Amino acid sequence: MRVAVISAEAVPYSKTGGLGDVAGALPKALKQVGIDSLLITPCYLQTKGEYLWKMAIDDLWVEWRGRHVQAKAFYSEANGSPTFLLDYPSLFHRDSIYGYTEDYERFAFFNHAALELLQRIGSAPDIVHLNDWHCGFAAVELAAKRRYDPYWSRTRTVFSIHNMAYQGGFGMSELAALGFTSQFAHNSFNFNGYASAMKAGLEVSDTLSTVSKRYSKEIQTGENGYGLDWLTRQRANRLIGITNGVDYDEWNPATDKDIPAHFSIDDLSGKQDCKRALLEHFSLPVEMDRPIFASVTRLTSQKGVELIRQGAGDILASGAYFIALGSGEKDSEAFLQALRDYAPSRVGVYIGYNESLAHLIEAGADMFLMPSKFEPCGLNQMYSLRYGTVPIVRAVGGLDDTVQNWDAVSQTGNGFKFGPFRADKLLEKIYEARFAYADKDAWLKIQQNGMAVDNSWENAARNYVELYQWTLR
Ligand code: ADP
Ligand code: GLC
Repeated sequence: MRVAVISAEAVPYSKTGGLGDVAGALPKALKQVGIDSLLITPCYLQTKGEYLWKMAIDDLWVEWRGRHVQAKAFYSEANGSPTFLLDYPSLFHRDSIYGYTEDYERFAFFNHAALELLQRIGSAPDIVHLNDWHCGFAAVELAAKRRYDPYWSRTRTVFSIHNMAYQGGFGMSELAALGFTSQFAHNSFNFNGYASAMKAGLEVSDTLSTVSKRYSKEIQTGENGYGLDWLTRQRANRLIGITNGVDYDEWNPATDKDIPAHFSIDDLSGKQDCKRALLEHFSLPVEMDRPIFASVTRLTSQKGVELIRQGAGDILASGAYFIALGSGEKDSEAFLQALRDYAPSRVGVYIGYNESLAHLIEAGADMFLMPSKFEPCGLNQMYSLRYGTVPIVRAVGGLDDTVQNWDAVSQTGNGFKFGPFRADKLLEKIYEARFAYADKDAWLKIQQNGMAVDNSWENAARNYVELYQWTLR
């Protein structure tokens, strides 16, 4: 089976969040279970030159806005699978990966060029695996093409939803300029009078998936469907949830190149060295008995930053450290900086994006906070489990599927989770965790329960293979 994964970001070439982690790791994992997989992703200004192994195609002619424009494609296997990086500087060599009013146009081009590239390399894939709204354009183009173009007649599409909150909306009047002139395209994109790339992808792809079982149900409700729950309900018999995996080549405390000491489930002593290094990194006094609560996140309302904000005073009052790495909404950034200024000997804050610091925090912290409002899957709680950093999460989406509440009587569970989106509910769990931390044996058991969990990509990849087979049937 030949599978082409198309994604707006993929590690190690580019990343703003979990989509990058997933799209980089999945094609590699597919390869390891015997699938002939291929990744196509843009070449950004942020993509390091060392990953661009060679120029594969320097004359990829793409019909665009009534002209033929010349794009290029680099080849790489830096993520562990064959990868083409589409290069078109005027759209992709920018200060940031997303955040431009014409993002819809940038990714429409990317999709169009990706299909051109798949045509150019000679034999059509059985499955084109599309990810999030950025790939809704290719879903429509392929659905149309395979009706008249024999090259594509056997190709089927899988569309994965990583986050319903981002839908790639734009004006319907732009559609024609992007090359979508048919009634079919008009109907696919049309969402109450404006164009939605997410809606198009959901409507026309052969099958749909989301990144956890629970989220696959949540997006069928008004609360999490972002206006498209009628469509996910309509297509529920084609929709499944597959929990993301963890790339343990990258996220493994026994081999991690970004941390000062290694450790594993059988010997956690190195974690203490990581904790010391983390405190020193933030110039905090090294008081090893105080727990470190940590957070690594995009600072958006999705992540429940407001609950952390309301609970921060109590975390500090309990005698703990608080360390945060994140960037995003300005008021959340300002709050974190103010908290550090208020308690400089207890709070460490880094505003920005820092991959190696994310690893050090996972390794050195004691508890990891993820009180998300919604969370399609979430990767950091799974990284935390492997690093013996106990997750405190809200019971939504993938967080609910991957974290089990600690039960002191049966000695089962690997974290702490609460239901209602309220700071007092988060604080209850913070106090419970603080209490458990004081009992060294109990704490070790919670850590080990988490470290023993196998969230490897192998399981997830096998589920995707089943999804592809189902799609082809
Ligand atoms: P989301 O994709 O919604 O942001 P996930 O938990 O799925 O959430 O994935 C987030 C990924 O991005 C993780 O790999 C996390 O370590 C990383 N990340 C988020 N913010 C930062 C940051 N400021 N610096 C470094 N890595 C970050
Ligand atoms: C999205 C979601 C996150 C998920 C990631 C990868 O960014 O917010 O929960 O883990 O995609 O699927």
